[in-house]
Amino acid sequence: MAPMVQQTGLPDGTATEAAAVFYGARAQAGTGLIIVEATAVEPDARCWPGGLGAYLPQHREGLARIASAIRAGGACACLQLVHGGPQASPAVIGGPGWGPSAIPPNSNFPPPRELPRDALSDLQGRFVAAAEMAAEAGFQAVELHGAHGYLLDSFLSPNRNRRADDYGGSIENRLRMLEETVRRTRERLGERLLVGCRVSFFNHAHEGFGHDAFRTILAALERAGCDLLHISCDGWSRTWFDTGRTQGQLAKETVRIPVIVAGSLGDSREAERAVAEGHCDVAAIGRAMKSAPDWAARAHRRLVANRRTGDADPP
Ligand SMILES: Cc1cc2nc3c(=O)[nH]c(=O)nc-3n(C[C@H](O)[C@H](O)[C@H](O)COP(=O)(O)O)c2cc1C
Repeated sequence: MAPMVQQTGLPDGTATEAAAVFYGARAQAGTGLIIVEATAVEPDARCWPGGLGAYLPQHREGLARIASAIRAGGACACLQLVHGGPQASPAVIGGPGWGPSAIPPNSNFPPPRELPRDALSDLQGRFVAAAEMAAEAGFQAVELHGAHGYLLDSFLSPNRNRRADDYGGSIENRLRMLEETVRRTRERLGERLLVGCRVSFFNHAHEGFGHDAFRTILAALERAGCDLLHISCDGWSRTWFDTGRTQGQLAKETVRIPVIVAGSLGDSREAERAVAEGHCDVAAIGRAMKSAPDWAARAHRRLVANRRTGDADPP
């Protein structure tokens, strides 16, 4: 199951019972891996009212209820960790967000405040601390949100990152923030958690960010210790509902760790094809699983029935 913000949290970011029930139902249906929605790593990271947090002591219990509901259903529990950066909600955080440079993502956001060089290590530490809370809450994996224009992704972009220090300029410099965050999370928690990372082409294609840069990023993430890569969307059309299969295939050619792909795979035959055709190892399902809690059970029944009849691609 792909991460999807539910906006059922309390104003302070604590998860309510509604979240445990929501994720538990999808786990009971036989979903293999559930990536719980983007969860903020600090107050200025918040992107939505009702979003979850993993930075206050009181967040731990609600997260533990979610992890427990997922594991009771037999699924692997993964928590996605996000810093909204320039796309944090000004209404929620009470002002503009933070970014690599004071360049707004689009006309919906004010220019973010430029992060000073000496704040970057602390921000990476926020991800590590949130991952630690995820482990304590019983999650078996975390996914660092390096996609969709949020903080870690905005460092990658040559248009949003105009820094003159060693976190801006070349692709090697622009990916330093993401790479160091993965490495530090893995070093601290690699024994207790799988550490994944979600990346996308969102916004990058039209910013002169080509396949070579994407490959460089994927290879660097694998070297930094990523256990799983999750690719969402095809950036050429710049929407995260589009399939990430093209980039998934690119990732499969570039790295040896498992590759998850999301985007319009809600017809289980599409999901099966994405795996069979080598575009990913794992298909992530978003909207279809949000609207149908038993999506996995139905997909499984169809697969078993097809195997019995030898029908590879039924109507
Ligand atoms: C309501 C909603 C909330 C979403 N929230 C997140 C999120 O928290 N983190 C994330 O990386 N992607 C998020 N996405 C994107 C999905 O994970 C997924 O990549 C996208 O919906 C495409 O998959 P689908 O076609 O199967 O829905 C969200 C999508 C929807 C529809």
